[in-house]
Amino acid sequence: MSELRIDNYLDADYFDRSLRSDVLNGFDSDFKELPPKWFYDDHGSQLFEEITRLEEYYPTEAERSILRTHAAEIVALSGADTLVELGSGAADKTRVLLDALRDAGQLERFVPFDVSEGILRSSSESILAEYPGIEVHGVVGDFERHLDKIPTTGRRMTALLGGTIGNFNPHERKGFLTEIVAGKNPGDTFLLGTDLVKDHDRLVLAYDDPYGVTAAFNKNVLTVLNTRLNANFDVDQFEHVARFDADREWMDLRLRSLVDQDVRIEDLDLDVHFDAGEEMRTEISAKFRKAGVEQELATVGLELVGWWTDERGDYALSVSRVS
Ligand code: SAH
Ligand code: AVI
Repeated sequence: MSELRIDNYLDADYFDRSLRSDVLNGFDSDFKELPPKWFYDDHGSQLFEEITRLEEYYPTEAERSILRTHAAEIVALSGADTLVELGSGAADKTRVLLDALRDAGQLERFVPFDVSEGILRSSSESILAEYPGIEVHGVVGDFERHLDKIPTTGRRMTALLGGTIGNFNPHERKGFLTEIVAGKNPGDTFLLGTDLVKDHDRLVLAYDDPYGVTAAFNKNVLTVLNTRLNANFDVDQFEHVARFDADREWMDLRLRSLVDQDVRIEDLDLDVHFDAGEEMRTEISAKFRKAGVEQELATVGLELVGWWTDERGDYALSVSRVS
């Protein structure tokens, strides 16, 4: 029998406390920085969906093509009856995996986990309607706090798609992977999507599209601060900046102040000064190489058992399990 359950761990109080502390910490030093999770209010989630439809933003289609070619193999390797998806968003490519699980007679349960309640609810409802008879158990939560709330029922494959792992810095990445491993039962697998290092111009174009969609996505974080914290950012006084940091091998996304300006964040009783040309980091998006992925997984006790790339070698999917 089909069943939908959604647990929400992000009450208004959690959101407020967490946003306040991120903003206070992020604006505290000489180098301003905000974590990327604040992009994803309903409008931000929609803008991300638009990004995924741009030709310049190749990761989505690259990942979809790998899934189309190898989903049956991935599913067989996992032996899973439950797909947990971290940062599931619209869970669009996820359907390829769900189809493969269903075709193999293995599909019992889908467990999407996301910070963005609106998109989690709508994708959960659609998937329940498209896959009659399965259980959908959504969790609205924060990677930083609520991974232990993910139900442990079934033989699970935990997926982190889209290259989202790249949005953590290396230190956070290790903590995050450690948490994932801590929640695993013997036999559970981890399906990871990683964007690969490539020609720098293509990378920059993917994060600075000519239509301004990524710029709007980036600036949306200022609107989120205006709405949730009563701030008065003028989004037109900031510009989108996307650079590839070749030493760290990550895309570095920032907002640059076009003028010397003071911004008032009423709910924090805080005035923030921006010099003309000053930049605030809003996201990194790390790019990977196979050896690095294998080594990072091994460090937290995960053994790589499958690695596939798209035809151009732009993007990789890997399966690992507790060694
Ligand atoms: N997996 C999808 C969406 C990737 S976008 C794809 O491959 O296209 C990244 C997703 O992670 C968004 O849906 C966002 O809401 C979610 N996310 C970002 N930070 C998060 C956090 N701290 N905790 C939980 N979800 C988060
Ligand atoms: C969600 N995440 C993997 C995207 C990325 O490519 O790092 C977010 C994004 N930022 C700008 N464009 C897309």
